[in-house]
Amino acid sequence: MILVTGASGGVGTALCRELAARGEDLALTARDRGKLEQLAEQVRAAGGTATVHPCDLRDQVAVAALAEELLATRGAPSAIVSLAGHSLRRSLADTVGRPHDLVRLTGTNMLGPAALLLALLPAMSAAGGGRVVVVTSASARIPAPGWAAYGASKAGLDAWLRAVRPEAERVGVRITVVELPLVATAMAAPTYGEAPRGALSPRRAAARVLRGLDRAPALISPPWARLGAVLSQAAPALAARGAGAGAELAQRLAVRGRTR
Ligand SMILES: NC(=O)c1ccc[n+]([C@@H]2O[C@H](COP(=O)([O-])OP(=O)(O)OC[C@H]3O[C@@H](n4cnc5c(N)ncnc54)[C@H](OP(=O)(O)O)[C@@H]3O)[C@@H](O)[C@H]2O)c1
Repeated sequence: MILVTGASGGVGTALCRELAARGEDLALTARDRGKLEQLAEQVRAAGGTATVHPCDLRDQVAVAALAEELLATRGAPSAIVSLAGHSLRRSLADTVGRPHDLVRLTGTNMLGPAALLLALLPAMSAAGGGRVVVVTSASARIPAPGWAAYGASKAGLDAWLRAVRPEAERVGVRITVVELPLVATAMAAPTYGEAPRGALSPRRAAARVLRGLDRAPALISPPWARLGAVLSQAAPALAARGAGAGAELAQRLAVRGRTR
């Protein structure tokens, strides 16, 4: 069984369709049960099997209950695809007085996914091992103004995964981090519009995640993001200014369709 978090989102839905066509057995999670049920129907119609397990990843008690329910009803997953995420673009001035932004984003993007993985890892290992594919963002290692809380939450998860990777591998669980660039989904729409220029389609983004599941490399990331991470480390102040200006320009060039 493959556990997919954020299954009902743009990339998650595209991925689940591809996995269904392979006849895979899926466990789907996100918060909205109705959307998960609809997706499970699509998975079954396309040749796969699926169960739904609603959970808010910001709630650590709910995450522990999700892991218990999965292990009791479905057994250990052979793979986990961690796609659930929340993004936010907000300047420093607008963030003053809003520490809950950081709480919300780290809960969804870092603490919840890490806690879920921790709860399932021993059972995966005992069942012979498995694969974990975690989607972060190409911007995780290139800090840019406006994306502080989102970048920090993704970077935190990335650092945690890099640190635990060798120990996880020793118990049979391989970890892949997929750094996605801009994808045309509901997440991108408030900043870039509904059909941003130059964005990946959800299907192409899902293909990168599938590559992670099939081949288990340590990292899947665009070349410009790898270069940006090096520059960001070599010249942090200059790189952050450059990344901010680049993000502004990219937004002006990419925005297309209604922003919401
Ligand atoms: N779109 C982009 O441009 C882009 C770029 C780089 C990286 N990424 C990353 O790619 C992944 C997929 O993004 P997407 O574009 O498919 O986003 P999306 O369409 O907004 O989907 C987000 C998914 O996460 C779930 N989710 C959100 N908050 C949650 C919570 N608190 N607990 C549990 N589930 C939660 C949502 O379902 P519910 O609302 O029902 O919970 C939904 O299934 C994310 O990790 C994102 O950060 C996206």
